Amino acid sequence: MNQMEKMKAYVRINDIKQDVELANVPIPDIMADQVLIKVKAFGVGIHDRYFIPNPIDYPYVIGSEGAGVIKKLGESVIGFEIGDRVIFTTVLQPQGGSWAEYAVSKYTSLIRMPDEMTFAQGSAVPIAGKTAIESMRELNLNKGDHLFIAGASGAIGSLVIQLAASKGIHVSASASRGNHKYMESLGADKSIDYKDTDWINKIKTWSKGGVDAALAIQPGTGIHSLKVVKEGGKLITVSGDNVMTERNIEVKQMGHEEETRHKIIQMVSDIVEGKINLIIEDEYPFDDALKALEKTETRHARGKSVVIL
Ligand SMILES: NC(=O)c1ccc[n+]([C@@H]2O[C@H](COP(=O)([O-])OP(=O)(O)OC[C@H]3O[C@@H](n4cnc5c(N)ncnc54)[C@H](OP(=O)(O)O)[C@@H]3O)[C@@H](O)[C@H]2O)c1
Repeated sequence: MNQMEKMKAYVRINDIKQDVELANVPIPDIMADQVLIKVKAFGVGIHDRYFIPNPIDYPYVIGSEGAGVIKKLGESVIGFEIGDRVIFTTVLQPQGGSWAEYAVSKYTSLIRMPDEMTFAQGSAVPIAGKTAIESMRELNLNKGDHLFIAGASGAIGSLVIQLAASKGIHVSASASRGNHKYMESLGADKSIDYKDTDWINKIKTWSKGGVDAALAIQPGTGIHSLKVVKEGGKLITVSGDNVMTERNIEVKQMGHEEETRHKIIQMVSDIVEGKINLIIEDEYPFDDALKALEKTETRHARGKSVVIL
């Protein structure tokens, strides 16, 4: 493929203006350990507009995750062929992201997509899947423990509810009332409305004095989530909340310490086998990608939104 060939892509045009625009940009070139992917679908995340490396040349193609077909291999790539269907990530890459007709990814981060999986499903897995897996690792709960999840009907919460319930953990979760049956269908034992002024007491009563751990997914939910954790328990914050501890509770911001690829491969297989329900609220056509971004930015999406090319 000629480096000067162009593709359609959603880009940020500078580091000041946060608008995202549809543009014609060169198809990116690959390095020895990378592949060029014809993008078939990409996942939409609240961070997509803002996750830009610095310094970087503009226009910069946004996006962090996708699914597609390998079109070109770098000379040191092993284990993958042209035509393979793959799930990929592009987080903060100098060559740009996944919101384009073509994207670049390191072969070591690729995940082979099972035939039974659609590109839409594949593109919805990497970021929410990795965050859910890392949340479970940080929570480190056992069968019979009690968990509270703040903001649980979004992409991450929808997965954490299922991962926790399948381990025999008792799950309580917050969202607006319209999402309570949905969260219970995924395995939550107790739902509360974050607008209910008595929700903290309700969770403490349900957990007989306080949960073993809380996962604060939504920004700003950490402080109140701490109140439902029992003495000596744990609070993990996913969105950078800085919370002062009390009552010997371990408070931690979620980190990325461990290679999770093998666990995401397992998650992909569990999705195909129907053990995990991957919820995609909406599939948008490429031309409506900005509508998908705006919906995600409302922080009221159910599960994941994806864009199909
Ligand atoms: N640390 C990491 O590696 C990492 C990775 C990915 C994402 N993140 C962060 O995780 C968050 C995104 O999570 P997501 O995509 O799963 O979901 P999301 O779409 O951002 O959140 C949706 C959920 O939050 C609930 N919610 C909305 N306003 C709330 C409030 N004021 N209090 C409590 N809950 C509220 C929604 O309920 P209703 O719809 O019923 O109102 C729904 O359950 C972002 O802040 C993102 O930056 C972190």
